[in-house]
Amino acid sequence: MTTEATTPATAAGHQPAPDLLSRRFATLGRHSPLFYDTPLELVSGNGVWLTDAQGRTYLDGYNNVPHVGHANPVVADAVSDQLRTINLHTRYLNSRVVEYAEALLATFDGDLERVFFVNSGSEANELALRIARQHTGHTGVLVTDFSYHGNTITLAELTTGLTTGEPLGAHVRALHIPDLVGASDEQELLEQALAEVDAAITSLQEAGHGVSAFLFDPLFSTEGLLQPPAGYIEGVAARIRAAGGLVIADEVQSGFGRTGTHMWGHRMFDLIPDLVTMGKPMANGHPVGAVVTTEELLDEFGRHNMYFNTFAGSPVSSAAGMAVLQVMEEEYLMARAQELGDYIGGRLHAIADGNPHVRAARGRGLFFGLEFTAPGGDHKAAADLTKALVEDMRARGVLISRIGPHDNVLKMRPPLVFTREHADLLLDHLDAALDTLAG
Ligand SMILES: Cc1ncc(COP(=O)(O)O)c(C=O)c1O
Repeated sequence: MTTEATTPATAAGHQPAPDLLSRRFATLGRHSPLFYDTPLELVSGNGVWLTDAQGRTYLDGYNNVPHVGHANPVVADAVSDQLRTINLHTRYLNSRVVEYAEALLATFDGDLERVFFVNSGSEANELALRIARQHTGHTGVLVTDFSYHGNTITLAELTTGLTTGEPLGAHVRALHIPDLVGASDEQELLEQALAEVDAAITSLQEAGHGVSAFLFDPLFSTEGLLQPPAGYIEGVAARIRAAGGLVIADEVQSGFGRTGTHMWGHRMFDLIPDLVTMGKPMANGHPVGAVVTTEELLDEFGRHNMYFNTFAGSPVSSAAGMAVLQVMEEEYLMARAQELGDYIGGRLHAIADGNPHVRAARGRGLFFGLEFTAPGGDHKAAADLTKALVEDMRARGVLISRIGPHDNVLKMRPPLVFTREHADLLLDHLDAALDTLAG
């Protein structure tokens, strides 16, 4: 996961207020990441548009948190009405909270019919792992080999996708996700990958950790939007369960209709996980997350833990979350993401076919990517190119980013209110940027 540069601006153009940048460094320090060589100071948003301090507007092709659009009036009104009525911690009855829980749970299949509200994706994954650990009596966790699930100690010990001071935990095994791009034999790829899962499970068992959970992002977004062979996720889940472990789908990136075809990314597979975690887009920027699970797991955990969470699932958070579900439904955002995703995918595949620097078009729905390659597999050269493209797109007034183990995949993941017109604008600018930098 790239965090782009944190250095102050020296180049001409796009200068942020120097005072604000130095005050930020003087208060938040220099390690809190900022995008772009010259950080962008944004002062307002509206739908898919952002405006900087100099009054310049940008098309937002990057941000998934403002799911139903920046400054969405339905969300803003719901939050402000609720704030003016009552906001509470969670130890009183309030109908808003229960109504939101009912509406959210109605979007799940199988026996996923209970919810714990939390305040972030990290908190959701931390709680899901805690539930899995207590249920199984084991500590072993399987993740993927370039992933990010959050910032707590537990999650830092299983982070493989960015720098952490904590080494990978002795109880963690990182799986290499098989990718269909470039593969000649899908069946062979599948068998090799599942053999790796068997070996990882055996290794956890032999080391005395056992298997508590497999934690994965159904879109493999930090990994670079990989495309596993059919049956892989189902095969991993079956093996984890046979070893007594639970399956946790981290839907922080892939949830809430982002894929276009499914409300929850795990439904792209023939799988009902034991626990589903979510955050980012859930309340359009208001900090809300959740763990959705079964009655059995919730009851078992509840019997042994007095789990209390002051802010999580407050009436205001619930009003914000409910407004997101309402706008999604009223504006058919998931169906729109599917249709638009197909169109964008078509244009990206055409780019991939015609440009020797592009290895593959990736993604689905409104999470799409373009993977770059350089002669001789020179990862640095490919990363330099994606960095130059991200900067060039910013200069053209379009915000995107990059991902993947080598930072060589352009990452485009706009608010779900993106339209065909916005997509054309983004892709026309991308075509022009490619002509300039990678023709
Ligand atoms: C897949 C995934 N899981 C979890 C998280 C952590 O979420 P949060 O930053 O809300 O704690 C992230 C954040 O980027 C993420 O991408």
